Amino acid sequence: MKILVNGGAGFIGSHTTVELFNAGHTPIIIDDFSNSQKWIIDRIEQITNKRPKVYEGNCTDINFMDDVFEKEKDLEGVIHFTAFKAVGESIEKPIPYYKNNINSLLVLIEVMQKYGVENIVFSSSATVYGDPDTNPLTEKSPRKQATNPYGNTKLIAEDILKDTVISRAKIKTIPLRYFNPIGAHESHLIGELPNGVPSNLVPYITQTAAGIRKELTIFGNDYDTPDGTCIRDFIHVVDLAKAHIATLEYLQNQTSPFFDVFNVGTGKGTSVMELINTFEKVNNTKVKYKIGPRRPGDVKACWADTKKVQNVMGWKAQKTISDAMKDAWEWQKTL
Ligand code: UD1
Repeated sequence: MKILVNGGAGFIGSHTTVELFNAGHTPIIIDDFSNSQKWIIDRIEQITNKRPKVYEGNCTDINFMDDVFEKEKDLEGVIHFTAFKAVGESIEKPIPYYKNNINSLLVLIEVMQKYGVENIVFSSSATVYGDPDTNPLTEKSPRKQATNPYGNTKLIAEDILKDTVISRAKIKTIPLRYFNPIGAHESHLIGELPNGVPSNLVPYITQTAAGIRKELTIFGNDYDTPDGTCIRDFIHVVDLAKAHIATLEYLQNQTSPFFDVFNVGTGKGTSVMELINTFEKVNNTKVKYKIGPRRPGDVKACWADTKKVQNVMGWKAQKTISDAMKDAWEWQKTL
């Protein structure tokens, strides 16, 4: 299948582009490189021996998008990663978050309708579950009010897609609710490239171990969890990338209009402390850390029930936290 990958040079986008090639598909990337690097494209080629075609531009620009769809007439689907994703920043600058994350989706739906492209896989997030009452989370668990604009853009985007399907437009879509993507490709040629000081845990761990950051702060060890630190469902980015291929292939067999949501996680909760311990153990290196206060907006625990994605699409995470921690460190050492 010829697939448009919006945000294909980013962390999850680049790994998904590699997996699309591996599965025999033809990925075409759109990226404005505002939060990604051009050399990632060379690295994708190094890994796969294939170079994706790249259109440089912004997905909120309808003329640009129309032009891409005009040139790529036989597209069979779109994976839409394009979004700003820093939770803290979204509180300080809500308008760019709404503008970028929502407008890009609206423009995309409009051009897809115009050119008769039906399949769209959308990057949603476990953040739509807010602070859950119970774990693991199934797709039937209630969505909750977002605590920040970033999270709200994911709720709104899911609703936009659902309403478009309810209107009986010719569209087939699956928002994938990602849990916490970590790790890097096993070649260590691509991985996460945070902008400035990382706000996510794993890049902060690897940068601290590399001496770029002085010390990691664990945001609270007084939660009601076995070791007092928060629990998340950390999923290897290569597993997550493969889930997109399974989703596209599944969508292709559905009839339009179609909407469904799926969790993409490992089904296992791991605490922040356990993750740090695993990093130190598998890499035989130390991470300097201290305990700090809780970070506002953090939820105590959040992990996925993955039965639905497993039963319906036959996808299951294969890699372990140890794999992810090794890959993240090997990647960090190349930077
Ligand atoms: C957040 C978002 C999620 C988004 C993801 C990627 C929420 C509730 N979650 O996930 O939707 O997709 O970011 O941007 O909005 N931690 C530390 N020290 C650090 C950094 C993190 O202790 O320096 C802890 C946090 O308190 C948390 C865990 O590590 O318990 C994971 O944090 P993080 O990597 O930022 O991801 P989430 O907040 O789970």
